[in-house]
Amino acid sequence: MLGGRHGLEPVETTLLIPLVARAYGDQLFPDMAVQDRCAAIALAGLHEDEDDIEEFLQDRLSVYGVLSRTRIFRQLATDFFTRHRQGWGVNLGCGLSSYFQWLDRQDNHWLDADLPAVMALRESLLPTLGLRHHSASVDLRRAHWWRSLGLPRGPHAPPVWVMLEGVLMYLQPEEVMHVLREFACHAPPGSELVCDSLSWMATGWASLHPSVSHTDAQFAWGARQMSDFTAIDPRLRKLSEHAVLDGYNLATAWLCPGFRALWGVPAYGIVRLGLAQAR
Ligand SMILES: C[S@@+](CC[C@H](N)C(=O)[O-])C[C@H]1O[C@@H](n2cnc3c(N)ncnc32)[C@H](O)[C@@H]1O
Repeated sequence: MLGGRHGLEPVETTLLIPLVARAYGDQLFPDMAVQDRCAAIALAGLHEDEDDIEEFLQDRLSVYGVLSRTRIFRQLATDFFTRHRQGWGVNLGCGLSSYFQWLDRQDNHWLDADLPAVMALRESLLPTLGLRHHSASVDLRRAHWWRSLGLPRGPHAPPVWVMLEGVLMYLQPEEVMHVLREFACHAPPGSELVCDSLSWMATGWASLHPSVSHTDAQFAWGARQMSDFTAIDPRLRKLSEHAVLDGYNLATAWLCPGFRALWGVPAYGIVRLGLAQAR
């Protein structure tokens, strides 16, 4: 069990799963390579046990899923910064991921934020990538996190691209709603929030997940219908949805779209939200 390692709580320890996938996954899935030079640096600094790393790598579907979702988040952010050159990006629950290595557009700003213990570890392992790269501690369960992070607010502020990757499923349902409402209340026009979506059927079953089971963390929330992402505030809109696992093999190519059609939510996917136009 990895809980307690590096002074981290179980849910914080889950950051190791995507870190290992981004550091080693390119060799396993060359067609899905992400070329993450920062992941290798961070993982080397952690001095992880070879056996633990190998255990994560044996969960091939999760490794593929991390590479696939990384490419989707990165592409959506690239599209956003093409439209909003001076926009802000914020990675909430960033763990040890480093998206600004790919997304620095000379005028944009980027903020990496996570719980205090993770940010302390991050600072000891990863460099800041220039003056427009910021970092801060945040607990998304607390009120007013948008304001406490100093993110742009108001109708004339630059739009913000918010990403939550592998985070919402570890929060309680009311905490997820609070995160979405905080975005709806404070994000400037043109802002987007992109997150991954795990089906409600996984809730409570993390012990069956080949990688998460090593961390003692639990899945606390999953979407029952796609409107769960927007119902909490009338300003929220679903802009697009993205499949993550379909390309893994023939079985997922059939099962993932089948699950989505049958249950109305993906088993695992990515959702992009925006704000209604002001009248
Ligand atoms: C599976 S890891 C994902 C890390 C990173 N997004 C990635 O994909 O590499 C989950 C992350 O969510 C963070 N997290 C969980 N609950 C949080 C909270 N209440 N506030 C901020 N971050 C949180 C954890 O500390 C951890 O870094």
